[in-house]
Order: sequence, then C-alpha cells, then structure tokens
Amino acid sequence: MVIWKAACQSGRLRTALLGGVALVGVPLTAFLLWAPAQGVFADDATDAASKAIGEDTANILGPDACSKCHAPAYKVWQGTHHFSADKTAPKSDLGKEIMKKLGGPALFKKRKDCTQCHVTMQGAADKAEPKWGISCESCHGAAAKWISIHNDKSKERAVRLGEAEKNGMCRPDKTYKLITNCMECHTVPNEDVINKGGHKTGRDFDPLVFSQGEVRHNFIGSPDNPEPSAERKRELYLIGQVLFLEYGIRGLAKATGDGEFAKAQSGRPAGSPEL
Ligand code: HEC
Ligand code: HEC
Ligand code: HEC
Ligand code: HEC
Repeated sequence: MVIWKAACQSGRLRTALLGGVALVGVPLTAFLLWAPAQGVFADDATDAASKAIGEDTANILGPDACSKCHAPAYKVWQGTHHFSADKTAPKSDLGKEIMKKLGGPALFKKRKDCTQCHVTMQGAADKAEPKWGISCESCHGAAAKWISIHNDKSKERAVRLGEAEKNGMCRPDKTYKLITNCMECHTVPNEDVINKGGHKTGRDFDPLVFSQGEVRHNFIGSPDNPEPSAERKRELYLIGQVLFLEYGIRGLAKATGDGEFAKAQSGRPAGSPEL
C-alpha cells in the first residue's frame, strides 16, 4: 500500500477543507482567510518540492552534511527520539511482536512498512539503504539539489530560499508543508500496521506540543533556542487542527473496516488535540 504521499504538496487539501468548514466553523474560516497569503494553497504540483519526502532517497545527503553550519541544531537532534528511531523501538520486543503479527521479514530494516517512518534511507531508488533514524532531511527535504543554493549569500534571501524550495527544501516559513511531514508519520496512516500489527495509532500527536521540548531547534538569530512567539504557537495550533481534520478524512476514506485504525481517524476531527 502506498501511504507515503507527497508530503510537500498541498493540492488535495482544498477539497478536504471545504468539507471540514462545516464541521469546525470559525477557526477554519479564519484559517481560510489567512492561508492563501502563507502559500498554503499554492500549487506545487510541478515543484521538485512535491516529490514525496522519504522517497527521494537518491538526493539524501545525510545529517553530517548539515552539521558544520548548523552545529547547535545537530546537537539537539542527537538527543531526540528521532535520532535513535532506527536503533530502539523497532528492535524492541514490542517491535518484534508487531512484525510477527504482520508477517514478512523479521528484520525491520528490510521492511518498507517500518523504514518509511523509523529510518532515513539513502541511495538510488532500487538500492537505497537505511542509514539514520529520522534526520534533518526527513523534515526539511532531500538536500542534494538545494544545499548549496539556500545559503548562497550572493543572492537575495527571498530569491535563494525560493529557489531552494523549488528544489525540494521544506522551510520553516511554510509551516503547513513542514507539519504535514510530521503527520505523514505521526498519524500512522497505515491500516495494517495498526489493525494487524497492533502499532500505536498516534492519536495523541499534537504538532504544537510535540514540536517543542526535545525537537525544538531555533538557533538562527539566537543561541538560546528560544520558545516560539505566541503568534507562532497559534499558527502551529491552528495548522495542527486543520491537518488533523484532513488526515482524519483521508484515513476514514481508505479504512476498509472497523478497528483501531478507523476509530483513531474518526476520533481525530472532533476531539483533538488537547493542549
Ligand atoms: C555551508 C553552510 C550550510 C550548510 C552546509 C547547510 N546550511 Fe542550512 N543554512 C545556512 C545559513 C547561513 C542559513 C541562513 C540563511 C538565511 O537565513 O539567510 C541556513 C538556513 C537554513 C534553514 C532555514 C531557512 C529558512 O527558511 O529560514 C534550514 C531549514 C536549513 N538551513 C537546513 C539545512 C539542512 C537540513 C542542511 C543539511 C542538509 C543545511 N541547512 C546545510 C548554512 C548552511
Ligand atoms: C506511518 C508511520 C509508521 C510506521 C509505518 C511504523 N511506525 Fe512505529 N512508530 C511511528 C511513530 C510516529 C512512533 C512514535 C509514537 C509516539 O511515541 O507518539 C512509533 C513508535 C513505535 C514503537 C514504540 C511504541 C511504544 O508504545 O512505545 C514501536 C515498537 C514501533 N513503532 C515499531 C514499529 C514497527 C516494527 C514497524 C514496522 C512494522 C513500525 N513501527 C512502522 C510511526 C510508524
Ligand atoms: C519520517 C517519520 C517522522 C517524521 C517526519 C516526524 N516524526 Fe516524530 N517520531 C517518529 C518516530 C518513528 C518516533 C518514535 C521514535 C522512537 O521512540 O524510537 C518519533 C518520535 C517523536 C517524538 C518523541 C515522542 C516521545 O515519545 O517522547 C516527538 C516529540 C516527535 N516525534 C515530534 C515530531 C514533530 C513535531 C515532527 C514534525 C516537525 C515529527 N516528529 C516528524 C517519526 C517521525
Ligand atoms: C522532526 C522534524 C525535523 C527534523 C528532524 C529537523 N528539523 Fe529543522 N525544523 C523543523 C521545524 C518544524 C522547524 C520550524 C520550527 C519553528 O519555526 O517553530 C525547523 C526549523 C529549522 C531551522 C530554522 C530555525 C532556526 O532558528 O534554526 C533550521 C536551520 C533547521 N530546522 C535545521 C535543521 C537541521 C540542520 C536538522 C538536522 C540536524 C534539522 N533541522 C532536523 C523540523 C525538523
């Protein structure tokens, strides 16, 4: 089953939102007024950015390509569950049990239904190897085509970052795209992994809460890794709500029966998330 969708893409959102406005009303109306200016509905279909994150393995450079210029972010990352995602959970007793229930290879690194969320793969599509846990490019996009553009100070900031984006970079300014990446893994949109394997549903994921704490790395402009502004937090909260709705609707649409997966999807739009 192909679940790894274009994480840097916003095309289908509009349809899901139109249905959702009736349900969530005022916050969503506010979002719809605000979103176009953020480029949320921009049509990226022709961008390299719409290539699925995690699938563009040939253009993955690996976190060491970022560390010399982003040393503090790299250090923070080394202390996260993301860093060790390929070393811990899937190899645990629970991980082995999930794989047994699902059938298939007993080595999680040989299974796409595990590596797509627990590992960064690198190499040509047919020969990609699991190399790291969830790393910089799992969230910011495979970097081979944008790494030397995004900081090329001979160009104006807006120009070079715009070019980097066209070449697959997921930037903090495009919050919707960035948080979509979290959702692709954290809503666990894979019915078999949940219903047959007994994997956690990700029902409790909240982009605002989860993007603070161990994951936060705001070092450009301050060495203190400050909390985001209240305005930024509101943005993360609102986008989280919209994405829960979108993923809930998508999940329900593809659920083949009752079970934990369907339950988690239908719970999401109405009751999520607690702050
Ligand atoms: C040669 C140094 C260098 C390398 C290597 C580098 N960066 Fe950067 N990066 C920068 C600089 C400088 C900026 C600030 C650009 C600006 O705001 O003008 C930046 C900005 C960024 C931003 C924020 C852009 C924005 O929209 O504000 C992200 C995200 C980022 N880099 C990710 C990465 C990742 C991921 C890697 C590794 C794949 C990487 N960088 C490698 C120097 C580098
Ligand atoms: C669609 C994404 C996705 C897929 C596919 C996936 N996982 Fe996970 N897994 C996650 C996320 C996200 C978490 C962290 C959940 C949290 O802590 O909120 C997680 C957590 C876990 C945990 C820890 C759970 C706990 O209760 O502490 C185990 C074990 C695990 N995964 C094993 C596996 C195995 C084995 C596979 C392959 C059969 C797999 N996962 C496939 C996303 C995924
Ligand atoms: C490629 C898949 C993937 C992406 C993208 C991703 N995560 Fe995760 N995340 C995971 C997995 C898998 C784990 C569990 C790792 C483990 O415990 O071994 C996890 C764990 C976490 C944890 C630790 C939870 C705990 O148990 O304490 C936080 C916090 C988190 N993620 C936040 C985020 C945020 C915020 C984003 C988006 C900005 C994001 N993640 C994007 C896969 C992903
Ligand atoms: C789990 C997803 C995730 C991973 C992994 C990740 N980032 Fe980020 N990154 C984000 C998010 C989300 C933001 C925006 C945070 C905000 O603005 O509130 C961000 C912002 C940034 C920024 C701009 C903010 C600043 O002040 O520095 C840079 C630079 C950056 N990341 C580099 C990196 C590098 C380098 C790595 C790997 C060492 C990395 N990121 C790993 C999700 C991630």
